[in-house]
Amino acid sequence: MSIQPILLAGLDASTADRTWRLADYMQRGGYAALKKILAENISPEAVINEVKKSSLRGRGGAGFPAGLKWSFMPRNYSGAKYLVCNTDEGEPGTFKDRDLMRFNPHQVIEGMAIAAYAMGVECGYNYIHGEVWDLYTRFEEALAEARAAGFIGQKILGSNFNFELFAHHGWGAYICGEETGLLESIEGKKGQPRYKPPFPASYGLYGKPTTINNTETFAAVPWIILNGGEKYLELGKPNNGGTKLFSVSGHVVKPGVYEVPMGTPFPVLLEMCGGMRNGKLKAVIPGGSSAPVLPADIIMDCTLDYDSIAKAGSMLGSGAVIVMDESVCMVKALERLSYFYFEESCGQCTPCREGTGWLYRVVHRIEHGQGRPEDLDLLNSVTENIMGRTICALGDAAALPVRSFTKHFKSEFEYHIENKKCMVPPEVQREGSNIYVTPNRVPSC
Ligand SMILES: Cc1cc2nc3c(=O)[nH]c(=O)nc-3n(C[C@H](O)[C@H](O)[C@H](O)COP(=O)(O)O)c2cc1C
Repeated sequence: MSIQPILLAGLDASTADRTWRLADYMQRGGYAALKKILAENISPEAVINEVKKSSLRGRGGAGFPAGLKWSFMPRNYSGAKYLVCNTDEGEPGTFKDRDLMRFNPHQVIEGMAIAAYAMGVECGYNYIHGEVWDLYTRFEEALAEARAAGFIGQKILGSNFNFELFAHHGWGAYICGEETGLLESIEGKKGQPRYKPPFPASYGLYGKPTTINNTETFAAVPWIILNGGEKYLELGKPNNGGTKLFSVSGHVVKPGVYEVPMGTPFPVLLEMCGGMRNGKLKAVIPGGSSAPVLPADIIMDCTLDYDSIAKAGSMLGSGAVIVMDESVCMVKALERLSYFYFEESCGQCTPCREGTGWLYRVVHRIEHGQGRPEDLDLLNSVTENIMGRTICALGDAAALPVRSFTKHFKSEFEYHIENKKCMVPPEVQREGSNIYVTPNRVPSC
């Protein structure tokens, strides 16, 4: 299968120490799209139309069409408008944006500059996850290079286009990846999501119209401008344009970040990763820890795009593929996931604050041999009381893994409850086979 990389093109492990530099990016054809727009005086509307044609869908999780989102930005607004890049990447299993930032930050900067031009924005921020300091310093260095070369700042490349861009060091909380929690955080407040509406396009950063996109979404834009939206769409499949990064972790031979066209069959990606490391494939979480888990027989029939994965009952999400072999105890894996959401709930909404604790406690007691016959019904009812009843989607993100694990691997949960031990025999559970380390805290109430 021939694969044309767009985001990782020309990035070679042997030159990883310099691919992020401006000189290297220019050699790979960098900033040609921005230069083209300014030299040919392409109108902002034409840029947005090209992105619409490309069927580029937001790579942060929800898959919202990028061109459509850009068209929501009020065109004739007279005050400040903002552009924000979401490099929070706090979802377990997701590590694609940090590779873009480490090895190809100028492509993100160029994509942001083009987006700013298209939406008439003069100020942007890149919100970078607080636990990965090296990304922040590297982005600052790349920004300084872009500024010195005239790609960022006032009168860019001699035109009338001005765009100032700043790195913002975030806090390392998962909730700060939720777009309105992120805006609160940039404003210096607790990263607690806002009610929507109003949406950021009308009331965003500092109450001004704001567009927020994921790092990978911006990085795809220069190629679209240079090659045309239709070409980008053709790389993928209808309604799912282009290529996508997948961060693959778990029991494969070569975990890492892979770029494949949308619509690639899952077995092809698995083969690129060298296949299974030891045992047989048991299950896959296809889109980050909040996406419903899929058993081997279902995922092996899927293609990697938003529509196919949704039809199978899960979500492509951020493209974080967590691969589990038969040594994994699904109760233990879910215990770890539930702990994460309990720990990361911001506490603002009662169903999420209390419900994530309930979910974790019940899964914890099943795993530890104290499960009760009514626990599976209880888990189901708690998820029902969380979903759709919170300000942001963290509540759903906590509930969906519980519903899918207990649906597809119900017998393992029942076995745990009845026999007070794991269905996967201890000799099969290899060291490190549980993809998540055991949580260290049990909520008492
Ligand atoms: C709890 C939570 C965490 C999120 N974390 C991220 C994140 O780390 N990065 C990201 O791009 N989007 C994240 N999102 C989605 C954002 O709210 C938003 O939809 C996205 O940044 C929009 O960019 P896109 O349209 O390019 O995908 C998160 C959403 C929720 C509910």
